[in-house]
Amino acid sequence: MKKIPLILLSLIMIPAVQADELPDTQTELVSVPKLASQTYLKPRPLNAIPDGEFGDKVRKGYELFVNTQQLRGKYVGNELNCSNCHMDAGRKANASPLWAAYFAYPAYRKKNDKVNSFEERIQGCFTYSMNGKAPASGSAELVALSAYSYWLGMGGVMDMAKLDSPVPAISDALLLQGGKLADFPIPEKVKSMMTIDELAKLPGKGFPLVPKPPLAYSPVRGEKVYQAHCQSCHGADGLGYETAGVYSLPPLWGPDSFNWGAGMHRVNTAASFIYENMPFGKSIQLTAQEAWDVAAYVNSHERPQDPRYKGDVSKLMTKYHKHQGYYGQAVDGSPILGSHSYAINPKGE
Ligand code: HEC
Ligand code: HEC
Repeated sequence: MKKIPLILLSLIMIPAVQADELPDTQTELVSVPKLASQTYLKPRPLNAIPDGEFGDKVRKGYELFVNTQQLRGKYVGNELNCSNCHMDAGRKANASPLWAAYFAYPAYRKKNDKVNSFEERIQGCFTYSMNGKAPASGSAELVALSAYSYWLGMGGVMDMAKLDSPVPAISDALLLQGGKLADFPIPEKVKSMMTIDELAKLPGKGFPLVPKPPLAYSPVRGEKVYQAHCQSCHGADGLGYETAGVYSLPPLWGPDSFNWGAGMHRVNTAASFIYENMPFGKSIQLTAQEAWDVAAYVNSHERPQDPRYKGDVSKLMTKYHKHQGYYGQAVDGSPILGSHSYAINPKGE
């Protein structure tokens, strides 16, 4: 970990757990609701990506984000693509958009007294959400994904500031750090419109909090919601649908979904995602209660093991799973979840 200037220590504090040598542990995001007077950032259309070396990195990042399966076996160990959760190619407000994320890093984490750069945050999603092995720091893949995120965010805020020039190219080292770096190059017109803290909290960031349900969430009730609203796409077995090896509908549990360390395995995180974004194409139709219940149902099934597992489910549970999730518990007579988990893939290069 690089030494960080003291000024960064004033950044927002995010409570987190330490993942030994593994990257970021899928810290719960702070979501930022939009005030009536505000608008969501609107990223530039993809055909505005410039030609040349910088534009090529941005385009590569977009391709990796929507077709992450091209890294299958190397860095990806399940059947997901980044855009399955960060929807509309990372551009959709309230589906943890990249344009909002980019300006929130590097972010200080109190617990381990460390700063998480943007590339480290992405590495976290490879390790957990993609059940894979994160590309090495500084790799072309992380540069490309960072370049795409930077381009989405910077283009959007430049448009808000009525600056229609191309997004300035910056060095790979800066791209990987993220836009909340104290000396990050932000055009003057943007700076006079928004502070660094405001940029780090763009409306639509993260997944919006879904109201607490009137009744404690229940996987038993959730099964009914699942059958009525989800099963037609994700399958009765939750395994999604593929044709000729390509998944058009992503798996929600089982060997090819996100693992037990991923943020989406928490019932609250999944409830927020689902309430706002599912059923696909007709979201915000479920009640808060239904969203929590179905999130509980989805997350009460086995999935790939938590990569921090060292042979003892209950130890791992006490260390990392003190939250709203089912790892280490038996649900509705099932074996202890985590005791029959699927493999963590791939082992890496
Ligand atoms: C009309 C088809 C459809 C329906 C119905 C539907 N989904 Fe989805 N779901 C999708 C698609 C497609 C994606 C991937 C989105 C993308 O790539 O843009 C997705 C993504 C997801 C994800 C994140 C990716 C993953 O595999 O974990 C979750 C969780 C999810 N859906 C849960 C649900 C739940 C719960 C319901 C029922 C309330 C539901 N979906 C209903 C099509 C559907
Ligand atoms: C299974 C769903 C899922 C997939 C697939 C996924 N992510 Fe995430 N991602 C999340 C969740 C959930 C969070 C928020 C963390 C939390 O609340 O635990 C997140 C957070 C992030 C953040 C930080 C967002 C912020 O506002 O701070 C970035 C950046 C990110 N993911 C990038 C990626 C990339 C790149 C990929 C593909 C390599 C990817 N994600 C794949 C679910 C997913």
